[in-house]
Amino acid sequence: MPAQRIAVYPGTFDPITNGHLDIILRGLQVFDHIVVAIAENVRKEPLFSTGERIQMIVEAVGGDERVEVDAFSGLLIDYVKQRGATVILRGLRALSDFEYEFQFALMNKRLAPGVETVFMMTGEEAFYVSSSLVKEVASFGGNVAGTVPEGVLRALAAKLKKE
Ligand code: COA
Repeated sequence: MPAQRIAVYPGTFDPITNGHLDIILRGLQVFDHIVVAIAENVRKEPLFSTGERIQMIVEAVGGDERVEVDAFSGLLIDYVKQRGATVILRGLRALSDFEYEFQFALMNKRLAPGVETVFMMTGEEAFYVSSSLVKEVASFGGNVAGTVPEGVLRALAAKLKKE
């Protein structure tokens, strides 16, 4: 039996958007197993706890057993090796993502030459979407339906009401 093709899809996912979901679903056409990996030590102050983010992603992927959701701290590349994966999956949106992603991929390649970074173009509906933009619009009462999964819409409403 050929070896399983495992990809790690890392990010902050605060919260997951339909753009992320699109990458996960399209990634499943290429990889056998995708580990959606929430980075815990990024220089961002998340609105949602790691547990809340995991729950929102699990709900959004609807129990597909080829998708696993996990969290990691420390270097991404160490986590990728630990999981036995050989691919890092990343979504590319506008041209502005390119420079950062190029740097990121080259550094990871230097740290682990056997691991490839694979980019997928984000779907056109999500070209302009980011988690921060969604949170900002929602915090001022704007309608973000269609940019995030239903469960995230509910979680955003509940969280922002509390704050
Ligand atoms: N659709 C919609 N939005 C998307 C998207 C898509 N397909 N892909 C990315 N985005 C958005 C995200 O929502 C995020 O928005 P935000 O900045 O408003 O939160 C933004 O684009 C960038 O997100 P993401 O791709 O998730 O990157 P990140 O900066 O949140 O995560 C890590 C980067 C966590 C993967 C990276 O910092 C990391 O690996 N850290 C671990 C430490 C490490 O190894 N560092 C050395 C790296 S060489």
